[in-house]
Amino acid sequence: MSKLNIVPFIKHFRKSLRDFTSAVSHAMDDISSKESSEYYFYSYTKFNNNDCYNSKTEECKDEITHFTSRLCKIDIPEENNDPIDLFASWLKEAQDRTSFLHAHTMNLATISESGRISSRNVVLTDLCDGGFHFSSSKFSRKSKDILTHPQVALTFIWFYTVDNLRISRQVRVEGCAIKKDTNYAREAFANASIENRFRSCLCRQSCKVDWHVLKKRHDNFLQSVQENRVQLQMPTHVEAFQVIPESIEFYHNLNDATISSATIPDRVLFTRIDTDKWNCVHLES
Ligand SMILES: Cc1cc2nc3c(=O)[nH]c(=O)nc-3n(C[C@H](O)[C@H](O)[C@H](O)COP(=O)(O)O)c2cc1C
Repeated sequence: MSKLNIVPFIKHFRKSLRDFTSAVSHAMDDISSKESSEYYFYSYTKFNNNDCYNSKTEECKDEITHFTSRLCKIDIPEENNDPIDLFASWLKEAQDRTSFLHAHTMNLATISESGRISSRNVVLTDLCDGGFHFSSSKFSRKSKDILTHPQVALTFIWFYTVDNLRISRQVRVEGCAIKKDTNYAREAFANASIENRFRSCLCRQSCKVDWHVLKKRHDNFLQSVQENRVQLQMPTHVEAFQVIPESIEFYHNLNDATISSATIPDRVLFTRIDTDKWNCVHLES
């Protein structure tokens, strides 16, 4: 049986280990004397310092020379750190720059009785009494979920451009959804668009239907509305909910289209500590 000569292998392994240790030690010295945005790329080129990676190393050096980055900041005024006020100002800005529907559409995640999570988009109908309001149908999955698990999550996402600045913003809300009384639901229904009122009167939402049956119902109902034979009264399946936030997280990124620069978004997390008191911290993005 031939013996395997492992001596050259061990020698080679020791040398590689020495080279690697020395590369790490040099990189660590460099790291301590550089700004964070630089050292990450610098240490990357050091570790790839052999023939195989030469072209990649040159590319990276070029990248480092031209690389620039800026850090975004969400300013929270010391005299007012109410996240609902901040949300209202972001919502207004998004609405002015995009459209009512885009600005007010929010993703709503709910938990079923068995613990299954589902999400869908709904429209924010009101922002009052410190809560986020929306309307739906008692036949929908979300309404049934909320009955057993009131804990929900909302996410808003907004993209728009102001002059040459590309803005991306996200707001995440976590909290409990409570059903509003019928009077509130009726008022919200009266304020909804005619399209929404018509759909709510026609459809119960999330119930199985034969499309042809629905078409017939639609045409008959449309005719009776047009002929003023029926009023668009709130049907009994319509419900209104209010989400009372326990935490609200703001994410903001701003990119200048005329400058080639990375931007690091800012995140601010508000956590409720009392009825009107919030703890507020910046988070790394
Ligand atoms: C832009 C947009 C806005 C919507 N707004 C609402 C709404 O305000 N209320 C609602 O019940 N469904 C709304 N829907 C429909 C829901 O996304 C969803 O299909 C429906 O509520 C059934 O969901 P569920 O059975 O999972 O509860 C909207 C859909 C879109 C695309």
